[in-house]
Amino acid sequence: QTNANFQADLLTWYDQNKRQLPWRMDPTPYHVWVSEIMLQQTQVDTVIPYYQHFLQRFPTIESLAEAQEADLMKAWEGLGYYSRVRNMQTAAQTVVKEFAGQFPQTYDEIIQLKGIGPYTAAAIASIAFNEAKAAVDGNAMRVYSRLLGISADIAKSKHHKLFFAIGDYLIAKDRPGDFNQAIMDLGSSFETAKAAMPLLSPVADYTLATLTGQTEAFPVKSKK
Ligand code: ADE
Repeated sequence: QTNANFQADLLTWYDQNKRQLPWRMDPTPYHVWVSEIMLQQTQVDTVIPYYQHFLQRFPTIESLAEAQEADLMKAWEGLGYYSRVRNMQTAAQTVVKEFAGQFPQTYDEIIQLKGIGPYTAAAIASIAFNEAKAAVDGNAMRVYSRLLGISADIAKSKHHKLFFAIGDYLIAKDRPGDFNQAIMDLGSSFETAKAAMPLLSPVADYTLATLTGQTEAFPVKSKK
């Protein structure tokens, strides 16, 4: 029951406090994909105008697949990490050729596409297709480690499997996309890198770090 209560409290908080972000208005797989790739190395506020412009320029997967290299680079100028958009075009061509232009609908298929790893595949599968897969990035690991008092070093990639497993256990099966985005909002705009805000946190009642007075102890994160 504790998990059900946790999910309910988190989702109620999300319903009342979620950020109005353009990719949340019409979460098609293509929209979610573009947003998640942009957000990988770039802040939300910077991404918003790029996201809007990119979709005006390349409104469909087909248009991305057929785009001229120079036009693609121009739309990405300023975001950096250009391999991200090159991989997206390769993946868009795969979707057009091998999936008849229909974005694949399961995590297991989505993760085969070029440039899409476990985080992005889970974000698209959960937000666009309601598949119960946890999207776990650095912010989510921060939230989960505080919640459960997990001392596994989040800077070590060998520990990431643990956090994906925890996320898959905790995720609300009926609203997986909202659950993942609630964790993202909690981690990026509500908790700071240094400490959780225990009194204000919508999940303070479930947070081991709060309950044990160890709000600064988690996550464990070594310097790279
Ligand atoms: N950061 C990465 N993905 C995000 C999303 N879907 N919403 C808000 N912040 C994010």
